[in-house]
Amino acid sequence: MIKLHDLYFKPFISEDEIQEAVQRMVDAVAADLGDEMPVFVGILNGSFMLASDFVKLYPKPCEVTFIKLASYEGVKSTEDIQRLIGLTQDLTGRTVVILEDIIDSGNTLEEVHRIFSNENVKQLLIATLFYKPEAYKKDFKLHYVGMEIPNKFIVGYGLDYNGLGRDMPAVYQLKSTQHMTNFVLFGPPGAGKGTQANFLKEKYDLVHISTGDVFRYNIKNETALGMLAKSYMDKGDLVPDQVTIDMLNKEVEKNSDANGFIFDGFPRTNAQAKALDELMESKDSQINAMVALEVDDEVLVQRLLERGKTSGRADDADESIIRNRIKEYYDKTAILKDYYSDQDKYYGVDGVGSIDEITVRLSNVIDNL
Ligand code: IMP
Ligand code: MG
Repeated sequence: MIKLHDLYFKPFISEDEIQEAVQRMVDAVAADLGDEMPVFVGILNGSFMLASDFVKLYPKPCEVTFIKLASYEGVKSTEDIQRLIGLTQDLTGRTVVILEDIIDSGNTLEEVHRIFSNENVKQLLIATLFYKPEAYKKDFKLHYVGMEIPNKFIVGYGLDYNGLGRDMPAVYQLKSTQHMTNFVLFGPPGAGKGTQANFLKEKYDLVHISTGDVFRYNIKNETALGMLAKSYMDKGDLVPDQVTIDMLNKEVEKNSDANGFIFDGFPRTNAQAKALDELMESKDSQINAMVALEVDDEVLVQRLLERGKTSGRADDADESIIRNRIKEYYDKTAILKDYYSDQDKYYGVDGVGSIDEITVRLSNVIDNL
């Protein structure tokens, strides 16, 4: 993964794949032109690297020159195109092959056609290394295309994001979600998980996804997934993991601009942890950590008994029930502790102390993820 300015990009097309595509284009052009000497015209800035590699591979004598049009800025190609700079040569009667790094909307290409319509060239052929068919809005013929790519922003091999990235010999694609810090938060009953989740959510501008809340929301609003989940629950069956994952997927997609997510109440099993990893990976993201509040059993029992005196919750009043809930928590999370430890992602945090002290300890972990 690489970062240019504020954005993250992932590897997309390797140097070798690019070289193969360039070679294919060269072979096709050379086969079509035979002994005719073409003038290759690179469109600056983006095509400098392609033009260089292309003419080195071209098997016959050729001429090469460059012109410059508007420089596009940012992630989206803009509409207004400045004037042409650099065409000083008389191209009357010549075969001109335009070398473009990328054709997106086709606006630049339209401008190229407009300019060359006054040049009395014998023929104007268009060769582009990358082509985004979903973005292309014109109908000029593209004679040679190195590679068709999806409509996503790329950098490298001449292509830039606000001036950076042109120098890279391989191509990188903009990540569909930007850098996120995502973790699963665990804590035994009475550890103060809810309180801490609220603080962390505010402090780091994270989205807190509590599986319980997500279920209640979907069922209350009678979403398709909510109704599906309910149909299992009504029969007394467990809701299949895929249904839960689909609900979480919706939450993640709703908040794709978030700095990250705190997952609470999920995963509970190895299979769920794997499914969550896959979900985040499909979003070009990842689970960075399992953060578990660790509190001694005796302290928990005392806290919950204390809470039981005022809360009136029956399950907080009975010591054996409390101990059983704590034991159940450890039985269930032990598997996950192993799962995340194997990836070096387990962080146990001392959960005894004031709320502030514990927030500081958790922040130390999160700041270093
Ligand atoms: P078009 O005029 O929309 O076809 O876009 C062509 C120009 O937009 C290219 O020459 C690039 O400068 C820029 N462009 C379009 N897509 C990308 C991309 O994915 N990465 C970097 N620049 C791009
Ligand atoms: Mg260009």
